[in-house]
Amino acid sequence: MYCLCAVGSGVIYFIIPKGSLEKPMRVMLGVFLLSVLITPVFKNQIGDLSSVLGLFDENSVQPPPDGILSHYEENIKATVAGLLDKNGLECKKVEIFMDIDGDNYIYIKRIVLMLANEKDSENIAGFLEQIGYQATKDYGEADLIILNSCAVRKSAEDKVLGEIGALKKYKRNKPELIIALCGCMAQEEAMVNLVINKYRHVDLIFGTHNINRLPWLLKRCYKEKSRVVEVYSTKAEVIEGLPDIKMNKHKAWINIAYGCDKFCSYCIVPFTRGKQRSRYKEFILKEIDDCKSQSYKELTLLGQNVNSYGKDLYENYGFADLLAAAAESQIPRLRFVTSHPWDFNQEMIDVMKRYDNIMPYLHLPLQSGDDEILKKMGRRYSQEDYLSLFDRLKTALPNLSFSTDIIVGFPGEEEKQFLNTIKVVEYCRFDNIFSFIYSPRVGTPAALLADEVSLSVKKQRLKYLNDTFKPLALANAQKYQDQEVEVLVDGPSKTKPEIYSGYSPANKVVNFSSENPLKPGDLVKVRVDKVKTFTLEGKEVF
Ligand code: 5AD
Ligand code: SF4
Repeated sequence: MYCLCAVGSGVIYFIIPKGSLEKPMRVMLGVFLLSVLITPVFKNQIGDLSSVLGLFDENSVQPPPDGILSHYEENIKATVAGLLDKNGLECKKVEIFMDIDGDNYIYIKRIVLMLANEKDSENIAGFLEQIGYQATKDYGEADLIILNSCAVRKSAEDKVLGEIGALKKYKRNKPELIIALCGCMAQEEAMVNLVINKYRHVDLIFGTHNINRLPWLLKRCYKEKSRVVEVYSTKAEVIEGLPDIKMNKHKAWINIAYGCDKFCSYCIVPFTRGKQRSRYKEFILKEIDDCKSQSYKELTLLGQNVNSYGKDLYENYGFADLLAAAAESQIPRLRFVTSHPWDFNQEMIDVMKRYDNIMPYLHLPLQSGDDEILKKMGRRYSQEDYLSLFDRLKTALPNLSFSTDIIVGFPGEEEKQFLNTIKVVEYCRFDNIFSFIYSPRVGTPAALLADEVSLSVKKQRLKYLNDTFKPLALANAQKYQDQEVEVLVDGPSKTKPEIYSGYSPANKVVNFSSENPLKPGDLVKVRVDKVKTFTLEGKEVF
């Protein structure tokens, strides 16, 4: 019988016939075997195993609360079995030494502005539900409140800090309440110091790289009754098999890569989320298959820069291959976000053209239409490059609908440079623009640049940009008037329960009436009778 045990600190596992050697010898041999067998196979994803197995480190701070064991046991078995299998070994038995006790509390509040955080929230919810927490929307009822923060712009951080301040009264009413801060803000040293010193009612701070440690961290909070801060600097690893409570039952996000290598000069993401780490395609395709078998209707492949998927992992497998493989799953609707123009190649366009289930919608951040500003931003393309890609996409896919991100008021942006952005907007006639006033982020290169543009000028530019694009977007949308569009139903509209709401293939919100009771995930046909800038209205047709 083969035996696999967790011993000591760190990750020391061994695969030795039980009873054949003294324990120290078995440990040493085990370490040797593992390093020889596993390291070359898993390259940077050694973290898959080490992180999962690390949870069972006997010397780690606390054992996990009740309920989490079975998940990890299964997780470890599956991971280890996969590794052994790859190396021609067989795993007959997994022994895990655990010591469990547990409590049930209630969670969660999230402040999420970035999709990566949204996905993290699903994993956090997965952990918490596994250890017996239930969701509540009521702060007063909660025993644990987690703020999952975004740091991409100062406005997001201010919102989170305001929220933390507002939680003080709940702590006063219920001293045993645990308040936790996680997400990108927790990866910023200055922010952690600020929270530690100024917001003393925050009990737990953890970062984007150690979500898998949440059960232990919580346990420490409860047991030690003191503040716990655990933030890792950027670690090059991918953790597979985290529990995952997907927010919807009909559409889901699938992470294909974490972090970003592009280091645009204004952007904090590479610092808070680390360098790009692609997931192995097998894990992604398995997750897609699982979603398909659970009747999900729409999947969105998620990464800070999906187009560079695989560059850190494979020589001959990139985003075009992954997108094609995902489309082959026959999932009814497939989307991906976010694209970087620099990494967008012809192969990807060809795949988009080949598969009908890849939705005709593309979010293609421009950031600026001026070559000098683009250079200062470190975007690696010129206005001409962007427009040439746009034209190639439009020629290949005439129905493709576009949205973009634009930053106004980058340090030193002159009027004529801003007007170059406007030229691109007028040419591309985007269906939607997410526009932002430049916000200096401590630690990014752009934050060191002199910025002579006043806030009032930045605000005027933002308004001018929005005033320019909205009529163009409305004119674009007229093509839907009196047409039938397919809608994936999300449910009753938030403001009018008698009206249903969902998304068209081109990602337009469609509000419509129906004589039938519909449920989230239904795909229906709607005839459009009214066109607005960002929404369509109509009636279901049969
Ligand atoms: N200031 C303003 N906007 C920013 N973004 C990223 N960093 C900043 C910043 N420092 C915007 C970019 C990006 C989007 C997610 O947020 O447009 O594409
Ligand atoms: Fe930030 Fe640039 Fe990476 Fe996007 S591509 S996440 S803007 S560094």
